[in-house]
Amino acid sequence: MRIAVIGAGIAGISCASELQQVGYEVVLFDKARSVGGRMTSKRTVHGYMDFGAQYFTARNPLFQQQVNRWQQQGVVSRWLAPIYQYQQHNLSASPDEQQRFIGVPAMHSPLKWQAKRLQSYVSCRIVALQPAANLWHLVSEQGESYGPFAHVVIAIPPAQAASLLSPANKVPLPETLLQPCWAVTLVLARASGHPAGGIFIKDTDSNLSWVSRHNSKPGRAQAESWLLHFSPAFSALHLEQDTAFWRETAEQALAELLTQPIQVVDALAHRWLYAQINDKAASGGIEGAIGQGLWLAGDWTRGGRVENAWLSGYDIAIKIREDRSVQHE
Ligand code: FAD
Ligand code: NAI
Repeated sequence: MRIAVIGAGIAGISCASELQQVGYEVVLFDKARSVGGRMTSKRTVHGYMDFGAQYFTARNPLFQQQVNRWQQQGVVSRWLAPIYQYQQHNLSASPDEQQRFIGVPAMHSPLKWQAKRLQSYVSCRIVALQPAANLWHLVSEQGESYGPFAHVVIAIPPAQAASLLSPANKVPLPETLLQPCWAVTLVLARASGHPAGGIFIKDTDSNLSWVSRHNSKPGRAQAESWLLHFSPAFSALHLEQDTAFWRETAEQALAELLTQPIQVVDALAHRWLYAQINDKAASGGIEGAIGQGLWLAGDWTRGGRVENAWLSGYDIAIKIREDRSVQHE
C-alpha cells in the first residue's frame, strides 16, 4: 500500500519514517528546495544560522528515544550555552536544569539524515488532491500527477492544509492558529563579549520574544552573530517591511539588550508566516483523521513545538497502521 506524506518538516518525516519502517511504501513531498520546514537552518557566507526553531526539549519517552538515536548518529547534540532572561528591562543569567538539544551542524541535520532513507520530491508544491476509485492522486504546481495512494498525510500548517481540501472532505481548520515571526540575524564587527547563548524575553511590552547567539552552538557561524525573534504582534504589524527596516530595528533592540553600542557588518532577515501557536486561540482538539484515507499532522495539532510535531507524525503513522488492519481483517 502506497502512502503520500505532504510536508517534509519534522511531523511529515517522523510519520513517513515510522510507516516505512513497518513496511509501507511512502513518498514524501515538499515545496521547499530541501527538507526541514521550520527547523531549516540557512547556509550563509558566515556559516549555518538558525532562523526558525532554536532548540528542542524532549519530555515524552518515545521522543527521548528518538533523540538518543540522533545523538548516537552525531546529528543532534546538547546545547549547553548559558541561558539568560530579559525582565523589567534587565538582562540577567537564568540558569536551569532543562536539557536542550540542537541539530548539528544545522538544526535540520537529523531530518536530512532520516530523509536519506525516504523517497522524496522537493521543490514540489502539492496544489490538489484528486480522488479516484478510493485512492488519491496528488497534483503538483507544475501540473504533474503522482499516485495512486491509499492514504495521504497532510503535514503542513492549517492555512495551507485548508487549501488542499475540497468541499467534499472539508473539515474546520484553525487557519489563523499559527502566528507570524520575523527573524533577524546581525553579524557584529567586534565581539560583544556577552556570554548569553539564549535569552528569553519576559517583558510583555517588548517587541522581541527571543534572542540567541549563533556561535554558542556547535556547527554554526563562528563570527559573533545574534538572532532576534520579534513578537507575533510586532511581526504582524510590520509584516511587509523590508530588510533595511528590520536591520535598523534589530540593531537598536540588540544594543539596548546588551547595553553597549554594536557595529553591524551584515544583516539577514527571514519572515515566517506560520511560526508559532497563538496561545490565546482555542485549537479545538484536532483529531488527525479526516476520513477517506486523508490525515492531518503537524505541531499545530498538538500545541506547537518540535517534540509535539514529531509526536503528531508518529501518532498518525500508528493510526494508519491500525486503520489498515481494520480494512484487511
Ligand atoms: P513545518 O516544519 O512547517 O513543515 C511543513 C512543511 O510543509 C514545510 O517544509 C513546507 O515547505 C511544506 N509545505 C507546505 N505546504 C506544502 C504544499 N502545498 N506542498 C508541499 N509541501 C508543503 N519549536 C521548539 O520546540 N523550540 C523552538 O525553539 C522553536 N522556535 C521556533 C522559532 C520560529 C521562528 C519558528 C518558525 C518555529 C519555532 N519552533 C520551535 C516551532 C517548530 O519549529 C515547529 O513546531 C516544528 O518545526 C513544526 O514542524 P511541522 O513538521 O509540523 O511543520
Ligand atoms: P523550554 O522548557 O526551554 O521553555 C519553555 C518556556 O519556559 C520558555 O518559553 C520560557 O518562557 C520559559 N523558560 C524556560 N527556561 C527558562 C529560563 N532558564 N529562564 C527563564 N525562562 C525560562 O522549552 P520548550 O517547552 O521546549 O519550548 C520551546 C521554546 O520554543 C519556547 O521558548 C517557545 O516559546 C519557543 N517557540 C518559539 C516559536 C517562535 O515562533 N518564536 C514557535 C514555537 C516555539
